[in-house]
Amino acid sequence: MSGTALENIPETGDMAPETTVTVGLEARSYPIRIGAGILATAGAALSARLPGRRFVIITDETVAGLHLPTLEQALSKAGRHTLGAAIVLPPGEESKSFSRLEEVLDTLLARGIERKTVLLALGGGVMGDLVGFAAAIALRGLDFVQIPTTLLAQVDSSVGGKTGINTHHGKNLVGAFHQPRLVLADTATLTTLPLRDRRAGYAEVVKYGLIDQPGFFTWLETRGAAVLANDPAAVAEAVAVSCRAKAAIVSQDERESGVRALLNLGHTFGHAFEALCHFDDRLRHGEAVGLGIALAFALSARLGFCPPAEAERVNRHLAAMGLPLSPADVPGLPWGESGCVAACLDAMGHDKKMADGRLTFILARGIGKAFATADIPMAEVQALLETLN
Ligand code: NAD
Ligand code: GLY
Repeated sequence: MSGTALENIPETGDMAPETTVTVGLEARSYPIRIGAGILATAGAALSARLPGRRFVIITDETVAGLHLPTLEQALSKAGRHTLGAAIVLPPGEESKSFSRLEEVLDTLLARGIERKTVLLALGGGVMGDLVGFAAAIALRGLDFVQIPTTLLAQVDSSVGGKTGINTHHGKNLVGAFHQPRLVLADTATLTTLPLRDRRAGYAEVVKYGLIDQPGFFTWLETRGAAVLANDPAAVAEAVAVSCRAKAAIVSQDERESGVRALLNLGHTFGHAFEALCHFDDRLRHGEAVGLGIALAFALSARLGFCPPAEAERVNRHLAAMGLPLSPADVPGLPWGESGCVAACLDAMGHDKKMADGRLTFILARGIGKAFATADIPMAEVQALLETLN
């Protein structure tokens, strides 16, 4: 299998107006096109990649109001047709549900989709995950294209083919691996994204530096504020480096039997906090990941894997970027109430990364030195959580 070599990732420098990163998966390889303003030329990009195909756009109400007209105009300018009007769903994590999935599938089938129909997922990670899963199962598999409009989706969720929905048992517990045919990441769409969502996406950006790219983390320490402030060059660099890092990992381990697990840095704690908030608006997925990253480094330092100074450096950067370091810092997260530590441990027990009844944690020996382990005593995790009360 081919992939993008990690050692070729630039750590600084000017970005070309458009960058293409390839996810190398042999016959299922696909390009991620990254650039400011590329949504306006999406019709040409789709025609080149998927000639002669008909599209259905699926998006959420917020993104429909901001960016759907640009995509629709781009398609009509290129003489491309959609099968009916865009399907527009309510925004938010609640849309990653069985009921919304059923609604999408019903609408698609009522419109007479064919195997060659292509779904266009326009929006953040919620739309990407839901539409990708609908594409995986409708008529036993349709092609789909990711058109991510949040920082989180541009650097993470639109790449790698993980799709799915939540159930009342936990997050992302029903889904499929289904790779998109193309990713179109228009970084200019991020200018309409609220700061809270830019911060949430930033947690996934910093994750790549912490996993195995200390040079990128150092770059973020000086340029992270510019990324959050939507500086075009800083955003383009951060999205491109993140996509290269993710593409390299996915190319080696598409189905998460090895190195891909490292992409779950911060997620074991993060998903538990999301569950405590019932996946609602109190805690964004990226905010939960940021919190989880801080706790993964705290646990690593507590267990003697990571020098405390490195964990403190991570905390300083997360705090400087406005991300929470403790569940006690998150308004609305039910922390400090009796039973909250037990509830958190219980939620972790529903994580899909359980193997033989043991939880896999992604910990670190330092910045850029993440590793996976299933040998962490839960008493230590409990003790760490109790220090946060
Ligand atoms: P989201 O899709 O809910 O988007 C956040 C909010 O931003 C929504 O209200 C949306 O309407 C709005 N929005 C989107 N684009 C906008 C824009 N350009 N301007 C203004 N508002 C805009 O959330 P998200 O943070 O993008 O994604 C989180 C989801 O991604 C979670 O469900 C998580 O599980 C999933 N995820 C999946 C993967 C994967 O590999 N599949 C990886 C990471 C996260
Ligand atoms: N976001 C984790 C993964 O794609 O594997």
